[in-house]
Amino acid sequence: MQSDPLTRRRLLQGSGALAAAAPIMASAQSAAAAPRPQPHGGHAMMPVELTVNDREVHLQLDPRTSLLDMLREHLHLTGTKKGCDHGQCGACTVIVDGRRINSCLTLAVMHDGQKITTIEGLGTPDQLHPMQKAFILHDGYQCGYCTPGQICSAVAVLDEIEAGIPSHVTDDLDDVAISDTELRERMSGNICRCAAYPNIIAAMRDVSGQSGAKGEKA
Ligand code: FES
Ligand code: FES
Repeated sequence: MQSDPLTRRRLLQGSGALAAAAPIMASAQSAAAAPRPQPHGGHAMMPVELTVNDREVHLQLDPRTSLLDMLREHLHLTGTKKGCDHGQCGACTVIVDGRRINSCLTLAVMHDGQKITTIEGLGTPDQLHPMQKAFILHDGYQCGYCTPGQICSAVAVLDEIEAGIPSHVTDDLDDVAISDTELRERMSGNICRCAAYPNIIAAMRDVSGQSGAKGEKA
């Protein structure tokens, strides 16, 4: 049987396929030439100095260590919880230089020189922070897993409002007021599978010195 003659169309189709494959081949070659990631033990450690709960700490860390893992695994401050480990639940919330952050989403080495406050630094069993007391008083938790993050977040939220920082639901940008809507919006990054939300809002209202506004359900 006679094979198909090599037509101009077939030649162009073939060279087009080669041209499309070229970048893939080139990237495969450069990937092969690129240095491979070192195994865990081969990573250079980095010095980190920070203040955690008013205590200076000096650590040598793998630069890939999250702030959450630094707190839990290196400093054994296990009050800060790991829920999702990718920024969806808020269980890992801590306060860094006065602002709340998800400690699972940030690297410890990025906080060199900064001041970290965890739930252990807010109060002690003998000397509770007012927000911790209010959570107990208002039953702001059930299983308690989300609670350290909720309390750290709640403390920072009241500071945010006090500082006049608006949220998406703030009506008057010149006078940021506390309302249940405002508190719920600001606490929306802290998930509670036990659904203690109304009691958390009541605790925050208590600490802020305001009971529920008329017409607003707590
Ligand atoms: Fe950090 Fe869920 S553990 S947001
Ligand atoms: Fe159980 Fe919030 S108290 S998840």
